[in-house]
Amino acid sequence: MSYLALYRVWRPQRFSEVVGQEQTVQALRNSVRENRLTHAYLFAGPRGTGKTSLAKILAKAVNCGHQQDGEPCNLCTSCQDISNGSFMDVIEIDAASNRGIDEIRDLREKVRILPAQGKKKVYIIDEVHMLTTEAFNALLKTLEEPPDSVIFILATTELQKIPGTILSRCQKYNFRRLTPDQITSRLQDVAQSNSIDVDPEAIALIARRANGGMRDALGMLDQLHSYQDSRINRDDVLEVLGLVDDLFVARLIDDVIAQDAAAIVEHLSIALNQGKEAIQLARETALYLRDLLMYKVAGDSADLIMAGEQSRPMLKAQGQKLEQSQILQAIRMIVDTGEKLRFSEGQRFVLELAFLELSSWVGKPVTVVPPAAPQPKSLRANKETRLEPSERGEKTEAREILWSRILAGVKEKKVPTHALLLQGKLLGTKGDTMYIGFHKGYKFHKERMEEKGNRDILDAVIRELFAREFNVQFIFIEDNQYNDMVVKRAIEDFGEELIEIKD
Ligand SMILES: Nc1ncnc2c1ncn2[C@@H]1O[C@H](COP(=O)(O)OP(=O)(O)OP(=O)(O)O)[C@@H](O)[C@H]1O
Ligand SMILES: [Mg+2]
Ligand SMILES: [Zn+2]
Repeated sequence: MSYLALYRVWRPQRFSEVVGQEQTVQALRNSVRENRLTHAYLFAGPRGTGKTSLAKILAKAVNCGHQQDGEPCNLCTSCQDISNGSFMDVIEIDAASNRGIDEIRDLREKVRILPAQGKKKVYIIDEVHMLTTEAFNALLKTLEEPPDSVIFILATTELQKIPGTILSRCQKYNFRRLTPDQITSRLQDVAQSNSIDVDPEAIALIARRANGGMRDALGMLDQLHSYQDSRINRDDVLEVLGLVDDLFVARLIDDVIAQDAAAIVEHLSIALNQGKEAIQLARETALYLRDLLMYKVAGDSADLIMAGEQSRPMLKAQGQKLEQSQILQAIRMIVDTGEKLRFSEGQRFVLELAFLELSSWVGKPVTVVPPAAPQPKSLRANKETRLEPSERGEKTEAREILWSRILAGVKEKKVPTHALLLQGKLLGTKGDTMYIGFHKGYKFHKERMEEKGNRDILDAVIRELFAREFNVQFIFIEDNQYNDMVVKRAIEDFGEELIEIKD
């Protein structure tokens, strides 16, 4: 017997089986019961929230000969044929697959032919926002003078792409994301009926991570179920779905607030060594920060996606330490980092850098406004966060980690180049320029590094690590370093702590 995905087996077959969407369900059911149907409906909302399911229930209800209290009987041939897609008068068009021109043309020709099997012809047009302009116009013509025996149900995930001319001819229903509680109770039913042994904690985790979509939630449960026979627990969910533990992210944010650079690097490296993807870590950190912001704004009534029971106390404590504006900025920065990670191979480093920078300004109790200067975001220093002498160690530590990464990358490519660079030190960056200093006694090393071959190697490593270009300047560091004009300018521009030069 072929395996049927849970979400298909568990498609609601009657109005009363639909989870959530109460107003929509009630309005549709009433209009069937009282025979007040209109010609065109538009179902709009996120994926997997019941649009197609309700379209089919409606199609059944209007064609069922034994309709009761607005519900289809699900037993007669017409109900059954509609359920399995073989009913001639219910025509499903997927606008996403061929953008609809032929189908809509066909529809215009046939729409006036009376229903063959049932009472009403029902056209269900899925992903209707994908129709070409031409197809939209053809559809509009039909909607302007719909025959009595026809009902259109248009469904879309992108309401804003539907032309106003179409909208104004439809009765519109907004589908909402389902809440974690609604998803949880459905998952419990499904698990029980299918003898799937799963921890309540695991269900709660899936329900939070499905982002309001029931199809995705059922898909996750299915995936876990096929992966293992024994009881599914929270760790299985994290592992199989490649998710990051919320408790882990909560601790990482604690490190960030404590400005503990060493702990940040260590914790990230544990996660990465366990096989978590850097991009996933960034995504989930962004989600966690989103929860943090929601909690700060709405308190206990906030709808949290990432933070579960265990991390919630930490989330609350963190919310008290950070300003809203700081959290918002942190989100922006981590989202940016996620983008950067998509294009970079030096993922690990990009991520570490982001967290280190985050801690350099998120840890401040004052509200921080990073300068508007464009790039580089990650290495950008800012005047407002000038550190107290006692805190300098952290900055230096961060820069040393960066420098050791650069050196390691160069060493991997060419050992002699590494030997030259080893005598230099990373001073900092300003705009698109990265400054690497050599003491006067290392003129030879500096000059060799300026040669194209060596420079190319360094450039390549920097590109891999930062996912961008820097114009590298090798400069001498005088014993009396502050006489050096370039360094002096750089210090004026972004504070002493990044250009702090020690012997
Ligand atoms: N409100 C709901 N109540 C119960 N189950 C639901 C609900 N929404 C979705 N599902 C489950 O998800 C599956 C897919 O739902 P459906 O096809 O109706 O979603 P959709 O909103 O049309 O999504 P898409 O925009 O991706 O087409 C259903 O078969 C069902 O298992
Ligand atoms: Mg659908
Ligand atoms: Zn029926």
